[in-house]
Amino acid sequence: MSASAFPKPSLRPFLPADVRLLREIRFAAIEELTVEDYDDAQRRAWATAVDDDVALARSLEQGLTLVALIGGGPVGFIALQDGGLIDQLYVHPAVARTGVASALCDAIERLAAARGAATLVTDASDTAKPLFEARGYQATHRNTIEIDGEYLGNTRMTKVLAPRAAPDGRP
Ligand SMILES: CC(C)(COP(=O)(O)OP(=O)(O)OC[C@H]1O[C@@H](n2cnc3c(N)ncnc32)[C@H](O)[C@@H]1OP(=O)(O)O)[C@@H](O)C(=O)NCCC(=O)NCCS
Repeated sequence: MSASAFPKPSLRPFLPADVRLLREIRFAAIEELTVEDYDDAQRRAWATAVDDDVALARSLEQGLTLVALIGGGPVGFIALQDGGLIDQLYVHPAVARTGVASALCDAIERLAAARGAATLVTDASDTAKPLFEARGYQATHRNTIEIDGEYLGNTRMTKVLAPRAAPDGRP
């Protein structure tokens, strides 16, 4: 079924009260959605790297974090750091491939452009790479990151944002 057949999530900024559910979404997304790209030990190291609510809340409060909701409950989130780095994007497996990440990326790209960002950057997991490619992000290089003795590959990807038109229509 195409993503357009599913309910569109509503979006709002992160609230401190979201943190427990977002940590559960993050854990489930890594454990279940990255199975084809990372082995058990790699997934476990990644999933448990943020193992308390305080640490996650601190990282989400540093930049701009949007939460996607369906039926009033959180189903995914995206975090944009100052300087234009998308450093977290997680969607609950129950709603994977229904367009939740796309809605979050659409919104964060619009907000970043409105704030004057010229480019966005992400270190895309191998799972997320097709999503970012489809959105026009260009791969620049591979990274290997070490988490708790495990080595995980990802890809630095960059997108040049379209400049915002002036209110009177002039470029
Ligand atoms: C990557 C992730 C955020 C995608 O979320 P999602 O809500 O399922 O993505 P969308 O439904 O918006 O997907 C839009 C398009 O991206 C591509 N895409 C998304 N997930 C994909 C996957 N696992 N494999 C191949 N293409 C994928 C497809 O082109 C998809 O369109 P389609 O479903 O019509 O084919 C989600 O799988 C996730 O949380 N993964 C685990 C954590 C992770 O890797 N986070 C990224 C850190 S950089």
